[in-house]
Amino acid sequence: MASAPIPKAELHLHIEGTLEPELAFRLAGRNGVELRYASAEELRDAYSFCDLQSFLDLYYELMAVLRTEDDFADLARAYLERAAAQGVRHAEIFFDPQAHTSRGVPIGTVIGGLARALDDSEERYGVSTALIMCFLRDESAASALETLEAATPYLDRIIGVGLDSAEVGNPPEKFREVYDRAAALGLRRVAHAGEEGPPQYVTQALDLLGVERVDHGLRSLEDPELVARLVRDRIPLTVCPLSNVRLRAVDRLEDHPLPRMLAAGLLVTVNSDDPAYFGGYADDNFTAVRDALGLDDETLRDLAANSFRAAFLDDARRRSYLEQVAAHEFG
Ligand code: ADE
Ligand code: ZN
Repeated sequence: MASAPIPKAELHLHIEGTLEPELAFRLAGRNGVELRYASAEELRDAYSFCDLQSFLDLYYELMAVLRTEDDFADLARAYLERAAAQGVRHAEIFFDPQAHTSRGVPIGTVIGGLARALDDSEERYGVSTALIMCFLRDESAASALETLEAATPYLDRIIGVGLDSAEVGNPPEKFREVYDRAAALGLRRVAHAGEEGPPQYVTQALDLLGVERVDHGLRSLEDPELVARLVRDRIPLTVCPLSNVRLRAVDRLEDHPLPRMLAAGLLVTVNSDDPAYFGGYADDNFTAVRDALGLDDETLRDLAANSFRAAFLDDARRRSYLEQVAAHEFG
């Protein structure tokens, strides 16, 4: 019998990116939303991307099916069930409120629906959870600030803020004031940087936004001084291997810089980003890098341990999860 997947934390996961074509069609039917695809198969066939923007276009288009609290709760439950089957014990989940409020869906509907699924996640799926609210960096800083203000009644549900969407031309410095405000509200801070954007965006995210973790961060490798800083300060990078190939940040998985990043001493974690679109959830990413890059069991154990080292967990929980990783037996 194949062994169970190694226990891990998922730290880079957009809940809207877990919308599988079948669920998209079910929600479209329930809400009377017309999709421009005849079937789930036809939709899946459209999942061929040449860069980040070509993916984002479809990602935002399909969000039209998400309208009610039930929709967001169903989306999150479907994800948590899959995550549990992939060995995920803790998930820090991104959501994009502006992609919903701009369509007339109130932020309370989004957070209320997600919270309903997350509330009984430990009991139902054995997955502890946290929510990270992302700002769309191709929208204005004023819109991000408004979103943060609109979220104030729900701050007990949100552990931190993030920054996502089209990176190039939307540097972290644009969101300095919003991140200052988030810090004042006691929120943790992360940001996508160095996915398509230059290493300077990673430096800005650290210096100007005060991020504790960098999402992607691949292009940091172009700047040796930045790498030395990330290693010295133990700043985690949430790397998403299947996403990097699908969005052409990396040509082939066999060429992925993950081994170089580990060899440099970076605190790297392996994550799934938008698994419904990129061909795999958390353990699918672990298996894919193991096979393509020839990673041995102890390297996989180290990656799983890193996911808990990098998570926003209290010490007792972190220790308990790390013990589970140490005790894992590979098949
Ligand atoms: N939103 C969802 N997935 C994303 C990614 N990989 N990069 C930037 N924004 C995103
Ligand atoms: Zn992402």
